[in-house]
Amino acid sequence: MAPETLPANVLSTLTDQPNTEQASPSQGPVKRRSFLKGLGVVGAALSTGSLLTTISEAQGRNDVITVGDVAILRFLAAAEILETDLWQQYNELGGVQDSEVPGGSGSRLYTKALEVLDGDMPQYIHDNTEDEMTHELFINAYLVSRGAEPVSLEQFRNLPSSQATGAQQIGRLTNLMQLSVDTTWFTRYRSRTGNPDLGDTFPQAIPSIAMGQHPAIPRSDADVQPDPSKPHHISDLTQAIANTAGFHFATIEQGGSSLYPMLAQRTTSLEVLRIVLSIGGTEICHFQTWSDKAGNAPHLSVVDPVTGLTVTFPDLNSPPLGGEDFQTNLIMPEPTAFLSRKLPVCSIIRPTATKGAAMGALKALTADDLFIGQSPDFFKFMRTLAIEADLAVRQ
Ligand SMILES: [Fe+2]
Ligand SMILES: [Fe+2]
Repeated sequence: MAPETLPANVLSTLTDQPNTEQASPSQGPVKRRSFLKGLGVVGAALSTGSLLTTISEAQGRNDVITVGDVAILRFLAAAEILETDLWQQYNELGGVQDSEVPGGSGSRLYTKALEVLDGDMPQYIHDNTEDEMTHELFINAYLVSRGAEPVSLEQFRNLPSSQATGAQQIGRLTNLMQLSVDTTWFTRYRSRTGNPDLGDTFPQAIPSIAMGQHPAIPRSDADVQPDPSKPHHISDLTQAIANTAGFHFATIEQGGSSLYPMLAQRTTSLEVLRIVLSIGGTEICHFQTWSDKAGNAPHLSVVDPVTGLTVTFPDLNSPPLGGEDFQTNLIMPEPTAFLSRKLPVCSIIRPTATKGAAMGALKALTADDLFIGQSPDFFKFMRTLAIEADLAVRQ
């Protein structure tokens, strides 16, 4: 790009003009030295020539999409297809039923049990589902618009639907009826010292759903039988299933909240970076919403008649949790160590280290049993997408 087409505020730093304010039609007045100051030590050491190269390269990044960018977007498209599939299952039984998210007809007592966590749960489930549908469709359409292959998982739609009234009977990609739900996000985001990127580990908030195979949606109408002895006739089993869903919502969305910033660090095209940052921000909106609701899960203990497992939701405001950092109305990240323990603590999304990001996400979803019953071909397909995304290098 020729220097004369550079933005006025940039040009003003490259020419030897008096130290007065320059008027820029697009960006307003800019102090002459503010650009160099902003660059810090490295920027100040750059020659005029290298600055021009950097600016030219940066603007060119809008037009270039690399093999790595495509690989990142393809993995994210697959992740969004999987998210859509699982959220669709939740919406059919526990969300708002309308033409924006069609397909189900709702399970009355499951929906009521979700509403115990928050009266707006059906609306939030609906909106999260719609968001995922748009993420999936947008990323695939963008890939096509740049001449790249979109991603389809239709061939792997072989898992069963819930038999409960309200669910469509179609092939699914994900399993929500035999889940192990990793609830360490609850303690991780409340820690003021720990960060997985610095090697720290975190205890499960709800140990009993972290192991075993638990339903987060009713498996059949037997899971949503009324119990006249309980408020609103919601049985403990139905409430336990809704509580499991409440934690699983946040487990899924905290994963997206980390995955997007992790992969953003490997993008080359500024437009792809913009896509990844913009969708990633929505994942964080989702996570915070669910982080707020999960804390409202009523404490109870019930034996699941299908698995024989005891499912216990403890009082999260009591030991071994409880106390200032674990009170359930904390819905924002506590500040914690970031990059180095020598630096001040900072309120951040965590983890965000980029190494092995896609494979890490795939392993985490697999460990939660989200793909129980899937074929070896499915895992092979997803592993290939993850490996290719993790090979992307910022250029
Ligand atoms: Fe998404
Ligand atoms: Fe999401």
